[in-house]
Amino acid sequence: MVDPILKWAGGKRQLLDELYSRFPDSYEHYHEPCFGGGALFFDLEPEDGTVNDTNSRLVNFYEQVRDSPEELIERCKSFEDPESDPDPSREFSEANRKGKEISDYYYQQRALFNRRPYGDDYDELEEAALLLYLNRTCYNGLYRENSSGGYNVPIGRYANPDWVRETEVREASRVLQDTEIRNGDFEYVTEIAEEGDLVYFDPPYEPMSSTAYFTDYSAEGFGKDDQKRLLETAKELDQRGVYVILSNSGVLYEMYDEAGFSVEIEGATRAINSDGENRDEVDEIVATNVPAERRQTAGQQELLDF
Ligand SMILES: C[S@@+](CC[C@H](N)C(=O)[O-])C[C@H]1O[C@@H](n2cnc3c(N)ncnc32)[C@H](O)[C@@H]1O
Repeated sequence: MVDPILKWAGGKRQLLDELYSRFPDSYEHYHEPCFGGGALFFDLEPEDGTVNDTNSRLVNFYEQVRDSPEELIERCKSFEDPESDPDPSREFSEANRKGKEISDYYYQQRALFNRRPYGDDYDELEEAALLLYLNRTCYNGLYRENSSGGYNVPIGRYANPDWVRETEVREASRVLQDTEIRNGDFEYVTEIAEEGDLVYFDPPYEPMSSTAYFTDYSAEGFGKDDQKRLLETAKELDQRGVYVILSNSGVLYEMYDEAGFSVEIEGATRAINSDGENRDEVDEIVATNVPAERRQTAGQQELLDF
């Protein structure tokens, strides 16, 4: 039971019990094709399997966590308080790449993070450290990109921002040791998952309203066609004897119900809107093909307490 390192839009910590209650009593390998903050993965601590995300900065981050945790921690320790003055020895100490004046250290680090695409001087460790630093010091702690792929979240105001996360990085590194980390579309899982494996899908949610923020995880978004492809992928896995558990927004209830999955509304309240005063509430569904008689009888937490 490890805590996620990053705060991520759509993080599933509140839904863990509902997800565990659909788990089969036994399974082979575990796969999480829309990884994000990986709340279920880190809580579960699977021995092996695959995780995947389309966001290449996020994928690089987890690769660094897995392979170079101590170097990552050291880099994070070298950062200054977000509201302090920019570092004069580094780029963007006075203006960002668009020539806009920079006043805080935070905005300098954001400009450094947004140098992509990098040339030969691409420093994977620095990009990972910056992602963690920005995630822990930005407003509302959520990752968001604009349409051209720039990270655009403003500075947050925290009394004691904690961006080093030593314990979480070390623990996550241990959990990720035998996990394959991929950077692509979720469909890879049809080539990899075998009968008896378990796949948990947590895609960007289909919006309940046209103004919802659910497609803001990365510049690419996730549209209706992607939702249809995901359903086809889940059906294909089902036919091959792979266990599937999927969370999504309530608007897709019928689509999964008609496809033969067991679907329930969880009615969760989700804090996804960047406006803290006006958080969107949506119904959430959990769909699965795990038959009721094959489900484990207790949640992960209860089993460990036993
Ligand atoms: C709802 S979030 C996952 C949250 C995660 N379960 C957690 O606990 O933090 C959805 C993730 O899917 C990723 N994603 C978007 N399009 C994708 C695609 N086509 N294939 C795989 N992942 C995708 C996004 O980058 C995002 O990180």
